[in-house]
Amino acid sequence: MGYPKKIYDEADIVMNERRNKAKTELELNRAEIYGKLPVLQELEYEIASYALNAVKSVTAGEFNREVLEGYKKRSVEAQNKVKNILIENGYSPDSLDEKYYCPKCEDTGYIDGVMCECKQKLLKEIACKMFSTDAISSDCRFENFSLDYYSSQVGENSKLSPKKQMSMILEYCKAYVNNFSKNSKNILMMGATGLGKTHLSVAMAYELTKNGFGVIYCSAPDMARKLESEYFGKNVDAPKGETEQSLLECDLLVIDDLGTEFINKYSQSSIYNIINIRINMGRPTIISTNLSAQELHNTYGMRFVSRIIGEFDKLNFVGTDIRQIKKRNS
Ligand SMILES: Nc1ncnc2c1ncn2[C@@H]1O[C@H](COP(=O)(O)OP(=O)(O)OP(=O)(O)O)[C@@H](O)[C@H]1O
Ligand SMILES: [Mg+2]
Ligand SMILES: [Zn+2]
Repeated sequence: MGYPKKIYDEADIVMNERRNKAKTELELNRAEIYGKLPVLQELEYEIASYALNAVKSVTAGEFNREVLEGYKKRSVEAQNKVKNILIENGYSPDSLDEKYYCPKCEDTGYIDGVMCECKQKLLKEIACKMFSTDAISSDCRFENFSLDYYSSQVGENSKLSPKKQMSMILEYCKAYVNNFSKNSKNILMMGATGLGKTHLSVAMAYELTKNGFGVIYCSAPDMARKLESEYFGKNVDAPKGETEQSLLECDLLVIDDLGTEFINKYSQSSIYNIINIRINMGRPTIISTNLSAQELHNTYGMRFVSRIIGEFDKLNFVGTDIRQIKKRNS
């Protein structure tokens, strides 16, 4: 997958830190253990000398299977001795080995020239963070989402009170996060301004990011701008398609405030494409909007609305503008 160069650079820095951490920890461990059990250091020298002698005898052309087998046998014996002494003294037998963040690739990021999963995950995390830092660092969390703002009076045309309806939505969102997988459902959050759509979608993005998923949180205007500048802008070091690729590849894409972007043919089709391709690949998207179904239809057309209605779980946010309530109370 193609990411911008700065994402690879950032990943290299993290991989380097992981390697250095493993090395430093190993040195500290060794210093402590050799301090207590100097015999182990002697055994390590002995093991190294067998390896060295074996190499020397081969390079000197004195290839003799028996001699080599001898070195090997004594080396294995010494290694077993080291392990036994470690165990006898209450250490684990691998205490003198390097502890890698990723034992599969030993923190090199590659296995036989193929990128290791750990590096792929890291690249995705960095790409998602670069998009989403502002939103995720706001304080919209499940813990401070209060149901006290919603009335418990059942309205004339509804069966449930706003409080009941919003408590069901809150439970839905929490369950969604707990059961999240890379092919979870799509969600369409609808409702008037100030009812908690952004609050809950940020809370979900935050929890999933914490759980190690690659989440991109983007407002529709921001997304339209980025996609547009990628195609028409002067951003020379960003090869075309990187924004689009990140938006398509992330585990969860949250598009906030759909309908507030500057609408033109290009923004409409680029946003539609992203959503559509993700649906086709089975990757989840959360959209929030304060447009009604009719307004979505007027803005994006029939094709868009029927796709969304068919493929998304609809959450209808109800109540009174919480921004106003908070302002009045402050
Ligand atoms: N249930 C809640 N408990 C506490 N704070 C809330 C709750 N719902 C919303 N808020 C707060 O009220 C403000 C407005 O909410 P939010 O931004 O989520 O509304 P919205 O539905 O996204 O509105 P808009 O359609 O205008 O984008 C935010 O500061 C948010 O943190
Ligand atoms: Mg909002
Ligand atoms: Zn790895």
